[in-house]
Amino acid sequence: MLLDDADYMDRALHVAARGRGLTSPNPLVGAVVVSPDGVVVGSGYHRRAGEPHAEIHALRSAGVAARGATLFSTLEPCCHTGRTGPCVDRIVKAGVARVVIGVEDPHPQVHGEGIRFLREHGIAVTVGVREAEATRMNLPFFIHTQRGRPLVMMKVALTRDGYVAEAPGVRSAITAERAGHDSHSLRAEFDAVGVGSETVLVDDPELTARAVHRARPLTRVIFDSRLRVPPTAAIFGTRDAGPIVIVTTKVTLAGSPDRAAALEANGARLLPAQVHDVTSALMMLGSEGVTSLLLEGGPTLHAAAWRAGVVDRVRIYVSPLAFGDKGVRWFETRSTVTEALEDLDVRMVGPDERTDGYVYRND
Ligand SMILES: NC(=O)c1ccc[n+]([C@@H]2O[C@H](COP(=O)([O-])OP(=O)(O)OC[C@H]3O[C@@H](n4cnc5c(N)ncnc54)[C@H](OP(=O)(O)O)[C@@H]3O)[C@@H](O)[C@H]2O)c1
Repeated sequence: MLLDDADYMDRALHVAARGRGLTSPNPLVGAVVVSPDGVVVGSGYHRRAGEPHAEIHALRSAGVAARGATLFSTLEPCCHTGRTGPCVDRIVKAGVARVVIGVEDPHPQVHGEGIRFLREHGIAVTVGVREAEATRMNLPFFIHTQRGRPLVMMKVALTRDGYVAEAPGVRSAITAERAGHDSHSLRAEFDAVGVGSETVLVDDPELTARAVHRARPLTRVIFDSRLRVPPTAAIFGTRDAGPIVIVTTKVTLAGSPDRAAALEANGARLLPAQVHDVTSALMMLGSEGVTSLLLEGGPTLHAAAWRAGVVDRVRIYVSPLAFGDKGVRWFETRSTVTEALEDLDVRMVGPDERTDGYVYRND
């Protein structure tokens, strides 16, 4: 039975998701090969950077059945020789009659060239089937390629009366175990997780992805312009989990060489920015290959990122707890932030409510 293009693209999107957490800095890509009578005769996904692209896996699994078939790919097939050969050559050689693409590849070396090549070789091409889903699946890749900075997801745990901590300087448990595990799974999907210096001083977090599978090291970023974080912080005992990067300033480095040396001796890599500003820090991380950053707080750092317009996704957990009058407030009310979000997904995680949303911008 012949289904719609969108149905087969859904299948390709589903297959692409198997590479989640594995492919960075490359995008997630899935492909299916469909015979003229509508049978899926091959499928594949990109498994990790440096390995064959999804289209190649799909064509290999289809074998001779690819001749005269339609190839559905969530992303435009590449036309340049990177670590693997160009996919468009292989598609032409396989005798595919038609290619259906989820979204054009924003990479400067592709960007419509793959589509042009296929058409020039007599292949019918349809572009933009399930485009929103195909883009959202690779938001880190799109943002990093187009803006040079990582995708930023702001994550917070709030009490029902809007607090992030019981009192200033007090390490506070807000959500229950299920949400804790859920947050660790989220960390596992990101290239990096980041916090402000005050959060390290108060909570002394390890910032690892515990009790979940993580195929790659997790970069931990501390935003600490004055180098206040002590070399004895718990995070320095977890160097096996991934790099520890401290974003600071050139002025601090020059003025505090001993503090800098002590942190470096304990495994930190210092990234000195010219200016003390969250966007410059993100651009530096982007140039280091970080395509996605989970920004866990606290409120001062969240406020800086939100006001600089660099937050792309938000996750808010709200627990049934209330802290009364003495708590530390988030920088905004929950409703002010959620009103700015699209594609909201609200669900319960144990006793805590979880809201996810996106900030889409066209600038
Ligand atoms: N419930 C939750 O989800 C959650 C999560 C995290 C933290 N917390 C709580 O939040 C509290 C700490 O929050 P906080 O707001 O006081 O501190 P914070 O946001 O953790 O850290 C703030 C510090 O980050 C540094 N920073 C570096 N670059 C920055 C930039 N570009 N913009 C802004 N700040 C930058 C600044 O210090 P320098 O100027 O010295 O660089 C600033 O003082 C703690 O109580 C912690 O327990 C709660």
